Amino acid sequence: MKITVIGAGHVGATLAQRIVDNDLVKDLVLVDIVEGIPQGKALDMWESTPVLGSDCRVIGTNSYEETKDSDIVVITAGLPRKPGMSREDLLAKNVEIVKSVTKQAVEFSPNAILVVVSNPLDAMAWTALKVSGFEPHRVFGMAGVLDTARYRSFIALELNVSTKDIQALVLGGHGDSMVPLPRYTMVGGIPLTELLPQDRIDAIVERTRKGGGEIVSLLKTGSAYYATSAAIYEMVESIVKDKKRLLPGSAYLQGEYGFHDIYLGVPIKIGRTGVEKIFELRLTEEEKNALARSAGDVKRTIEKIKL
Ligand code: NAI
Ligand code: 2OP
Repeated sequence: MKITVIGAGHVGATLAQRIVDNDLVKDLVLVDIVEGIPQGKALDMWESTPVLGSDCRVIGTNSYEETKDSDIVVITAGLPRKPGMSREDLLAKNVEIVKSVTKQAVEFSPNAILVVVSNPLDAMAWTALKVSGFEPHRVFGMAGVLDTARYRSFIALELNVSTKDIQALVLGGHGDSMVPLPRYTMVGGIPLTELLPQDRIDAIVERTRKGGGEIVSLLKTGSAYYATSAAIYEMVESIVKDKKRLLPGSAYLQGEYGFHDIYLGVPIKIGRTGVEKIFELRLTEEEKNALARSAGDVKRTIEKIKL
């Protein structure tokens, strides 16, 4: 299989490194608009393969010819946040970038699955869908795996247990109104609501919602990429190995959860053909209202986009 990663910045390059380190595919192409950066990073990564025992052939480029016939295209091109910025502040610049890279990528890889990462995430996934003209199951966004990873980490810290034993779900848009679901959170099979009082759960939910901003305010020059690239890797691996993982992802909704023509984080099954199923959960009135608020935020962002 062949993977293209567009954007050789923090997220794109770290993802590429994970793909090379794990010998996930034979062909990997790193694309960026800045001359020399994707070539230099790709060469450096490829030169690590004898040490790692990886057969992944990674190349860097500024053009799309080398991306021809990719099975998966991951879009990480775009500006990251700086302190004080919301993901929505990135909209004007990133929508133009995502439009341009999507058009070029799909021209050379008409059968690819597009995994969108650029922010504001749900609106960028919607843009990639409309510009590519692909079927919705071949275009999805990564955010929920990252948000859920943060939520799981904070729960593990609070309970002093292994992060491995926390299973959880975060629904909604990738913004501060995202919806972590304590009712669907298990710690070694025990509901979280049995293990922590409501005020501690509320504090963890709040920290999760602001998790991206917490990293931005520490880094000051950009946003998260280690947990981000690990989360993208998990989704990409599920496509390559047809693992059929059930993960939270931003999928195109056509009536599911009562929403239409919108990308929103929901539980999805990911396999060789992309989004193979969207799972609908029974939600309480409170959870439904929180999801509707989050969907409203995403819808308002999408409405600002001129294709
Ligand atoms: P970065 O600034 O390190 O890298 C972005 C790269 O995109 C740069 O190398 C830049 O030259 C490249 N680029 C810009 N325009 C391009 C074009 N037209 N064609 C090809 N490459 C182009 O930023 P970073 O940290 O890698 O973040 C990338 C994006 O991912 C940002 O929009 C950020 O907000 C988003 N992000 C999304 C997350 C999620 O959960 N969905 C989590 C973390 C970041
Ligand atoms: C994050 O959640 C900024 O979306 C990015 O870290």
